[in-house]
Amino acid sequence: MPAAKGFCSILDCCILEKILTISYGFLAQIKFVVNALLCAIHGPLIIFSPKFSLGLVMDTNSKEIKLILSLIGIIWNLGTCNAKFTPADNYLVNCGSTIDATIGQRLFAADNSQSIVLTSPQSIAARTTLNSVLGFDNAELYQTARIFTAPSSYSFNMKSNGRHFVRLHFFPFVYQSYDLANSKFKVSTEDVVLLDNFTLPSVSSPVVMEYSLNITRDMLILTFVPEGNSTSFVNAIEVVSVPDNLITDSAQRLGVGQYLGLAAQPFQTSYRINVGGPKVTAENDTLARTWFTDQSFFSTPTVAKEVTYPGKLNYQNGSASQDAAPDSVYNTARQLVVQRNSSSNMTWQFKVDSNSSYLIRFHFCDIVSKSAFLLYFDVYVDSWSAAKDLDLSTRGFGILAMPFYMDIVLPSSDPSGNLTVSIGPSSLPNTTPDGILNGLEIMKMNISSGSVYVVKPPSAAKKQLPIILGAVLGGIGAVIIVLVLCLFVRRKKKMKKPQTPLTSRPSSSWTPLSLNALSFLSTGTRTTSRTTYTSGTNSDTSYRIPFVVLQEATNHFDEQMVIGVGGFGKVYKAVLQDSTKVAVKRGNQKSHQGIREFRTEIELLSGLRHRHLVSLIGYCDEHNEMILVYEYMEKGTLKSHLYGGDHPPLSWKKRLEICIGAARGLHYLHTGFAKSIIHRDVKSANILLDENLMAKVSDFGLSKTGPEFDQTHVSTAVKGSFGYLDPEYYRRQKLTDKSDVYSFGVVLLEVICARPVIDPTLPRDMINLAEWAVKWQKRGELDQIVDKRIVGTIRPESLRKYGETVEKCLAEYGVERPTMGDVLWNLEFVLQLQEAGPDMSNIDSMNQISDLPSNAKRISSLEISTADESRTAMDYSEMSTSNAFSQLINTEGR
Ligand SMILES: *[C@@H]1O[C@H](CO)[C@@H](O)[C@H](O)[C@H]1NC(C)=O
Ligand SMILES: *[C@@H]1O[C@H](CO)[C@@H](O)[C@H](O)[C@H]1NC(C)=O
Repeated sequence: MPAAKGFCSILDCCILEKILTISYGFLAQIKFVVNALLCAIHGPLIIFSPKFSLGLVMDTNSKEIKLILSLIGIIWNLGTCNAKFTPADNYLVNCGSTIDATIGQRLFAADNSQSIVLTSPQSIAARTTLNSVLGFDNAELYQTARIFTAPSSYSFNMKSNGRHFVRLHFFPFVYQSYDLANSKFKVSTEDVVLLDNFTLPSVSSPVVMEYSLNITRDMLILTFVPEGNSTSFVNAIEVVSVPDNLITDSAQRLGVGQYLGLAAQPFQTSYRINVGGPKVTAENDTLARTWFTDQSFFSTPTVAKEVTYPGKLNYQNGSASQDAAPDSVYNTARQLVVQRNSSSNMTWQFKVDSNSSYLIRFHFCDIVSKSAFLLYFDVYVDSWSAAKDLDLSTRGFGILAMPFYMDIVLPSSDPSGNLTVSIGPSSLPNTTPDGILNGLEIMKMNISSGSVYVVKPPSAAKKQLPIILGAVLGGIGAVIIVLVLCLFVRRKKKMKKPQTPLTSRPSSSWTPLSLNALSFLSTGTRTTSRTTYTSGTNSDTSYRIPFVVLQEATNHFDEQMVIGVGGFGKVYKAVLQDSTKVAVKRGNQKSHQGIREFRTEIELLSGLRHRHLVSLIGYCDEHNEMILVYEYMEKGTLKSHLYGGDHPPLSWKKRLEICIGAARGLHYLHTGFAKSIIHRDVKSANILLDENLMAKVSDFGLSKTGPEFDQTHVSTAVKGSFGYLDPEYYRRQKLTDKSDVYSFGVVLLEVICARPVIDPTLPRDMINLAEWAVKWQKRGELDQIVDKRIVGTIRPESLRKYGETVEKCLAEYGVERPTMGDVLWNLEFVLQLQEAGPDMSNIDSMNQISDLPSNAKRISSLEISTADESRTAMDYSEMSTSNAFSQLINTEGR
C-alpha cells in the first residue's frame, strides 16, 4: 500500500468519518478499517446518501480502485445490516373516530381526515364506552368502529410495491340498533379475499387479523361487504410496508423438494409466538408485530426449561436481521432438559384449518451453548422431519447467539386440524441430547377463497405529485449538503497539498465511477444468500487457522504428505496438535479463479453441516494463502475404490450404501436451504469415504446457489467435469439441480460398471460411459456390462430397479429427471430389493400384491446367470411384504 499520509490528514478523515457517522449511526466497530482505507485513497470520496445511493468520485489512474470498491462493499454492508427499516407506506387508521389515537409511538389517524379515502354509500361512526374496552392492549382503537350497511371501501395509495402487512382490528360492541357480534361479512382486495362469511367469535375481546400481501398495484382497495342482510364493520386498519426480504421465494417443502413462489403469495398469520419468553407487543417490534407467549400451546412442560440470555445478540449479514424478530424473541427460548442422559421431544400444538398449507418459520438463536458445534437437534412438524441434526453454530461460522430462522412449507395439514411442532434430540453419536426453540410463526397460505369484490373510489386522482416533488427537493437538498461538506474536505486538502512533492505522482483526472460498477457491487452483495457469508468481514476469526500451525501440521508442506492434486492446488494430509487428522487443501496463489472458488467454498461450507458432506474445519488466508482445512477422509475417493486403485472390489451392498450416502448429501444441498445449492461437479472423485466407507460429498468450489425467483434456472458459464456434464446444461447454459442429478446418474454407472466415464482407449462407441451404458440399459441388458467381479452377487430385481433409476437420471431433459430426493428413495429401494432374502418370509400377506406375478416374470426373464441359484423370481415372490412391498405399492401410486 503506497504511503499516502501527505494527502490525507487526520482532519480529512475525521470529517469523512462524521459524514459516515451521521449516515449510519455508528462507527466504532469499523473506525479502524475506514481510517486505514480513507487514508489510503488519494483523494476525496464523496458519498451521496439520500437513502443509500452511493456516488463516488475517484482517481481513474489510481491503483487503489480495489480499495475503494471494497470500502463501498463495507459501507454497503453496514448500510444494509444496520439501516433501520422505514416503511414507505405506513397507513394507520382509527376507524369511526374523529380524533387521532396515539398508541405507543404510532399515530392512528381518524378516518374522517383528509388523507383517508373512504368510499361508502352509507356508513355509521360507532362508539362504545371507555369502560368496555379498558384493559385491552390498544384500548383506544377499540372504542370506535365504522359500520357499513352496504359494500364500502378504504383505499390507500401505495408508494412502494412489494410486501405489506395489512392488519384489521375488530372489537364487536352494541351501538344503537347494531349488535356488531351479529355482523357477517367479506373483506377483499382487488386480488385476494381476506375474509369471507366472517363472524366474530363470541368472546368479547378484540380480534386482530394480520395478512402479509405482496402488493403490485398503485392502490390498495380494502372492500368490506356485508353478507346475509347484516352489516360489516372495522375498528382499525394498518397497511404498512415490510422489508421485501422478509419472505424469500423458496422454502423447504416437507416431504421432499423445495417450495417455490412464496414471494408472490398472500399469507395470513395464524400464530406468532415467543417461545419461553414474554409477550412482545407492537411497540417492541420493528414491524409492529405481536408475539404471544407459548404457554397455551406448549404441551410438554416437564421436558424443557425456559432460558434467557442477558448478552448481546450477534446479528450477522446474510442471516436473520433485526426485522426478522425482535431481540426479546431471540434472547429467550425453551431448552430440552437432559434426564439421565436422554430426553424426549418438546412439543407445541396448534389448531389449524385442516388440509390447508402453511409456511412455518422457526426462529433459532443458540443462546445456550458454551462453545460452537455442541448443539445438535432434530426438528419435526407433525410426524415429518423438518431438519435433522440441525447445528446452529455452523450456520454462523461458529458464531454463537446468532439469530437465524428456517422456513418450512407444510403442503397440507392434518385433516384433524392439529399441527404439531417438536424439537427432539439428535441421534448423532457423541452428542448430548439437547435442543432449543426461540420463536415460531405459522402463516396460512392459499388464503383466498370465493370471489373478490371491489368498491372503487370515485376518482383515482392521486395526491402523489406533491409527494414526488417533496422527495425530489429533499433529495437535492441532501446532495447539496453532502457536496458542501466535500468541498470543505477538498479545501482542507488543498491547504495541505503544497507540503507534498507534486512530482511524486502524475497529475490525476477525476471522473465519476461508472454506475455499472456500483450496481454490480450492490447486486454482488445482495445475492449473498441467507445461508452464506461474506468472508472476511463476518467470519469468526477463531475459525481461521494460523499459517504456522498448518506449516507444522504438514511438515512444511512436505511433498510426501500430498494425497491429491486438483485444479485448485495440492491436498496434503496433516495432523493437528490435538492429533486430529485433517486434509489441507492449499490453493495455487496465482489462480484468479482460485480466489473465487476459495470464497465460494468457505461461504458454502461454513453454512453446511451434514453427515454426508465433508466438513470444513477451518481456513487460512494469511500471506495471500488460500488454504482450506477439511476433515480427513481415511479411505480416499470412491473412484479409487472402483477402478485404477489397488483396493479390493467393494460389494454391491457397500456400493449401494455409498451411493445412498452421497445422494443424501446432494439432496440436502438441493433442499436444505432457502435457496438450493447446486454442486456442479458431482463425480466419483468428489465422493470421499471415511474409515467406515461412509460417503461424503466434497469439493464445493464450483457450487452455485440455485435460481432466483421467477427464474427456473441459473445461466452460467459451463463448468464441471467432462463425461459428467448434463447435455442440457452444456447446450443451453441452463443450470438446475437436475444437472447434478445427471452427473450423479453417471456416477451410478461408474459404480456398477467400474470403468472410467471417458476411456479413449476403447472402441469408439464405448468411449463415453453414459452413452454406451444407456444403450445396454434400454435393451434391458445392463447385466452384460456390470463389473465382472460382482455381477453374480446382484439380485436381478435390485439390478433392474437400479438400471431404471440410472436411466431416469440420464434423461435428455432436466424436467424428465427425478429429483435427488426421488433418486435417494429409489436407491434405498434397490438396496432393500438386494437385501430381501428368502429368510424374510411372510408369505401370508403375499396375495395382496396383485400385479406381482407379471413383475416377477419380467424379472426372471432379465436374469442371466446368477452365482446363487436360489436367487430366482420365486424368491422375489417370497420376500417380506413388510418393507419392500409397501414401497412397491407406493411407487405405483406415485
Ligand atoms: C418493551 O419496551 C419497553 C420500553 O421501550 C420496555 O420497558 C419493555 O421492557 C419492553 N418489553 C419487552 C418484552 O421487551
Ligand atoms: C420426536 O418426535 C418424532 C416425530 O413424531 C419421533 O419420530 C421421535 O422418535 C421423537 N423423539 C423422541 C426422543 O421422543
